[in-house]
Amino acid sequence: MNAEEPAESKAAITDRSAHLAGAEDAVLRCDELIAGYLPGVNILNGSDLYVKQAELIGIIGPNGAGKSTLLKAMFGLVNIRSGKVLLKGEDITNMKAHSLVSRGVGYVPQTNNVFPSLTIEENLEMGAFQVPGKFKERFEFVAELFPALAERRKQRAGSLSGGERQMVAMARALMTEPSVLLLDEPSAGLSPKLQDLVFIQAQQINKAGVTVIMVEQNARRCLQICHRGYVLDQGRNAYTGTGQQLANDPKVIQLYLGTLAKA
Ligand SMILES: Nc1ncnc2c1ncn2[C@@H]1O[C@H](COP(=O)(O)OP(=O)(O)OP(=O)(O)O)[C@@H](O)[C@H]1O
Ligand SMILES: [Mg+2]
Repeated sequence: MNAEEPAESKAAITDRSAHLAGAEDAVLRCDELIAGYLPGVNILNGSDLYVKQAELIGIIGPNGAGKSTLLKAMFGLVNIRSGKVLLKGEDITNMKAHSLVSRGVGYVPQTNNVFPSLTIEENLEMGAFQVPGKFKERFEFVAELFPALAERRKQRAGSLSGGERQMVAMARALMTEPSVLLLDEPSAGLSPKLQDLVFIQAQQINKAGVTVIMVEQNARRCLQICHRGYVLDQGRNAYTGTGQQLANDPKVIQLYLGTLAKA
């Protein structure tokens, strides 16, 4: 090892203070979140996370680890029992989703994320209702990212393929001009080719200036594209680091990438 390089630059981080050393000037951060759905049952058991301006970060981990719950906690959809969520320094813990949207947070849920009986265009109009007068401008922005949607704007979302629906869901969340976008398993249920497209689109969204937090089951692919990643296990941070550090860490590979990679 090069003597000038700190040891943590080579391996994933497991230590809380080492992780938080990078959290200064984070756009969004979660500190020691404890949250759950049912009384007395905690799903998040002290999760920490931060994302900096223009970063794309990934959250991976086994089924039931609490990945979706962590996104829902950030978006005011599950009760945070203790800990804090800060957006650009403002305490947004347990703030309702509509207030978060007006502060620049967008969210694409894991399932049921389009209105199937509405057309693509109507779905996007629903997305834009909180930014009246901006539909045309925002439509042009998403049409550049997803040209196929613009061409088929009059088609009902329910008649689209899984990959196309995922595009509608992401496009709808982008209509409110979010500065931070939360994506829950955008590649789930898609063919390998469409999964690849979704990862490319997430990168394009990020390159267009949107900070992205992405939960993914396709862990290896996610770690390839994210700037930093988190492995969540039983509602706690197990490992964190750059995508490359996590993808090359023997423990992460042994515990989380072997089977997840095949998912
Ligand atoms: N609405 C709910 N009410 C009660 N328990 C819930 C609810 N949603 C999730 N849970 C429980 O919370 C735990 C974590 O679920 P969560 O959906 O956050 O996991 P996940 O990491 O996203 O899993 P997956 O990879 O399967 O999407 C699970 O034990 C789940 O049963
Ligand atoms: Mg989930």
